Amino acid sequence: MTEALRVRDVMHKPPVTVGADLTLSEAAHALDEHKVGAAAVLDSDGGVRGIVSERDILRSLGQGVDPASTRVSEVMTAHPVTVAADDSVAQALEIFRTRQFRHLPVLENGHVAGILSIRHVVRVAHIEEVKPAGSAPALAPRGLEGVAVAETAVGDVRGEEGFFHYRGYDACELARRCSFEQVWHLLVEGELPDSAQLRDFRGRTVAARSLPGGVDPLLHSLATLPGYSPLGALRTAVSLTGAALQVEPTLDISAVQVRAEALRLASLTPVLLMRLHRYQQGLPAVDPDPDLGYAAAYLQMLTGTRPAETAARALEKYLVLTMDHGFNSSTFTARVITSTGSDIGSALTGAIGALAGPLHGGAPSRALAMLDAIGTPDHAEEYLRDEIGAGHRLMGFGHRVYKTDDPRSTLLREVAAEIGGEQAEFAQFVEATALRVLNELKPGRRLYTNVEFYAGVVMNTVGVPRDMFTPTFACSRTVGWTAAIAEQAASNRLIRPSALYVGPPALRPLPEGYAYA
Ligand code: ACO
Repeated sequence: MTEALRVRDVMHKPPVTVGADLTLSEAAHALDEHKVGAAAVLDSDGGVRGIVSERDILRSLGQGVDPASTRVSEVMTAHPVTVAADDSVAQALEIFRTRQFRHLPVLENGHVAGILSIRHVVRVAHIEEVKPAGSAPALAPRGLEGVAVAETAVGDVRGEEGFFHYRGYDACELARRCSFEQVWHLLVEGELPDSAQLRDFRGRTVAARSLPGGVDPLLHSLATLPGYSPLGALRTAVSLTGAALQVEPTLDISAVQVRAEALRLASLTPVLLMRLHRYQQGLPAVDPDPDLGYAAAYLQMLTGTRPAETAARALEKYLVLTMDHGFNSSTFTARVITSTGSDIGSALTGAIGALAGPLHGGAPSRALAMLDAIGTPDHAEEYLRDEIGAGHRLMGFGHRVYKTDDPRSTLLREVAAEIGGEQAEFAQFVEATALRVLNELKPGRRLYTNVEFYAGVVMNTVGVPRDMFTPTFACSRTVGWTAAIAEQAASNRLIRPSALYVGPPALRPLPEGYAYA
């Protein structure tokens, strides 16, 4: 299939090249700057001496070499297998298959003309498989269900197995054992920080909480608009702040700058939200206490006082649990916007817009409203049976992906029990009753408690107002969005699918005599 396609059509050109005497730090910088996974290593005559990839560098770092003094010549693959620009992609694919390489230098007239990566080739082979040449575009299932539209190393949801992870680590274990900042670092920088990295990262997030000039008066205006909604106001405030920070198109900036802008906006999101909230309430703003981490500062900016450690830690667990959740609609939105080369402010604004929909960010307050409607334990069974009998859904139960316990609900149940209070006890009673009733009236549907059931209880108990539940979710999810944005920008391809046209046959002539009006 890939027979007709030539290597020159698919290779990355011009090739990124480095000298064998460059240090690993310098080579890594060159790869990062050009957003490629490998570079050709040239000798003094311009001939190919080797190839060095990001993986080669990472592997050597893992073996403890010093990147500032080790030379490319020590880690590169010398005398690499090469392909010619006129070779077919099918030939190249065969080399990748049999020799297990991931990148090949491409030669033309004795010089390196490009670098061919296995990703390019596999993608082309896959597209050709899905779409025979000359045919109409293949129609993906509605809602893209079951279709992988990108590669990601940020995280994944394993619904059938009942877990989700961030970069391979169980997200619930991270929430139990790590701070918000540790997991934030993991998601955006790619690894769990050691203590020096964490100190530096915390310092940067605290410094990034200061509002850019000119934003505060506009927050005042936003907060006093008629029909104020916290999430809508936050979306506008993020857009405004992106503009005030003069964030640049991701296409024009380095990966380092993308991450710096990401950190700035993710640090500012809760500051914007809390200012909007307080202005809307007619209260003065509370600046974040630089001694407090993300979660504790969140509550301190809300109330004006330092929160109890148990409350801050309970909220922190919720925030870590909601940082990311696979390739959901808002994450996809952020990646689509980034794929156009647009700036991070636009991508985050669009992501909040996607999250605002009831089918996504929904209303975590609905489960709490159900608890209110039940009122007392003796009403639970009757209420729940009546709801199901009337064809309604019990809020906080069932999930499209999890057909076993939603791991987030398991952890949040624990968190709710830890912080205690009447509502947590009542919620446990209602949950047990609901599961029993669902099992009886909806047998075989695999309905379990979902994240919303205890999220509302936890947030309510630590003092987050109900209309701030989804905006709180937006704040933590901003971390996941920024990780996705950075990933998209680092390996970008414009996301531009097709649609199957089903309208009137084309081309139609305009009705006779139809004139400009
Ligand atoms: N209460 C009662 N019955 C339910 C519930 C529920 N919460 N959820 C599903 N069912 C029943 C349906 O009525 C259906 O029964 P039927 O076979 O007799 O028609 C069966 O289970 C299958 O339902 P589907 O709609 O196919 O399930 P789906 O996977 O599409 O729904 C959803 C998932 C939308 C979350 C659903 O369970 C629901 O509406 N739950 C209540 C709202 C809620 O808690 N939303 C938050 C979800 S968490 C999140 O999105 C972050």
